[in-house]
Amino acid sequence: MKKLFEPTTLGTLKMKNRLIRSATWEGLADERGHMNEELFERCETLADGGIAAIISGFTSVSGDDHCFGGIARLSSDDFIGEHKRLTDIAHRRGCPIIVQLALGEYNGAYRDMSVNDLSEKDIRRIRDMFADGAVRAAKAGYDGVQIHAAHNFFLSRFISPGYNRRTDRYGRTPEGRAALIIEILHAIKTRCPELHVSMKINCSDFFSGGLTPAESLRICELCAENRMDSIEVSGNGTSVPHIKAGENEGYFKDFALRLGERTDLPIILVGGHRSIGKMEQILNEGRVDFLSLSRPLLREPALPNRWKSGDTAPAKCVSCNRCYQTPGHRCVFSRASETPGGGMK
Ligand SMILES: Cc1cc2nc3c(=O)[nH]c(=O)nc-3n(C[C@H](O)[C@H](O)[C@H](O)COP(=O)(O)O)c2cc1C
Repeated sequence: MKKLFEPTTLGTLKMKNRLIRSATWEGLADERGHMNEELFERCETLADGGIAAIISGFTSVSGDDHCFGGIARLSSDDFIGEHKRLTDIAHRRGCPIIVQLALGEYNGAYRDMSVNDLSEKDIRRIRDMFADGAVRAAKAGYDGVQIHAAHNFFLSRFISPGYNRRTDRYGRTPEGRAALIIEILHAIKTRCPELHVSMKINCSDFFSGGLTPAESLRICELCAENRMDSIEVSGNGTSVPHIKAGENEGYFKDFALRLGERTDLPIILVGGHRSIGKMEQILNEGRVDFLSLSRPLLREPALPNRWKSGDTAPAKCVSCNRCYQTPGHRCVFSRASETPGGGMK
């Protein structure tokens, strides 16, 4: 019988409970991707709040990626120092921290290129951007990296038949469309064997012609065969609104349970977790090992400590999604949301 609050491990990482902060892009970096002071404070507050591990927000491996404002980067060695400061903050509080390596758009010759325009040389360049990002992550002291292959960003378009119409070895079949991710995985494992390597993936694109659950399962199996360390299950339409405790929590659960039957990979499930009762039910329905949270921690960064102390009322987050519209992606129900700074551009 798995409990939410019991010490466990994620690969070699020591976890004090089964709750993980899912990647949350705060919009608190400048145009070049340098983090502002508030981002360090957010990390400190989260690590103090009892979460077992933090996955950073979207961190671009490219200096030319301007898919949205305020994204942090690990696209050159110039960023290592500030990321080291972030990992030190988490580690001083006994909290492992994983950086989410991502690419929103790929600007070959300074235009956003579709996955179908890329030459094999471009593809090798993208593989190396992720691997170089991982090397910098290791130097900055991160415990792991998460390859962002969900939510319509570049790699999720690459694995999706809805976008990838390539007729070469990087297309045609789930194996072909997964080849870039497998190459990234190999490159990271070779160059940074000490890092935990996770991936966030859509269980489905939820549009006609897009990635199906069967194809997503096949890609996860390939990743497992190639020594991926964990998978975080998400899906397009990631932040479903109006979640009510006990009613529509854990909305990608069915896929995660199927994945658990097909691989031995540790599984992290994100999406609409709001109550301890429902989360423990999911943990014990199958092989889901960790539950990850985003919006509830914007409203209550110390939610894990609140629950652990015996106040087991569901998360106060009402899933209104207005956090997406505020500067610094603050919860509109917290007074700090009125303070300008960072924010969407
Ligand atoms: C403001 C905001 C920013 C987000 N940024 C990211 C991100 O950088 N990377 C990512 O994979 N998901 C991101 N997400 C999605 C969350 O990680 C999560 O998958 C989703 O919100 C569902 O979980 P929840 O119900 O716990 O919020 C973001 C969500 C919110 C609300």
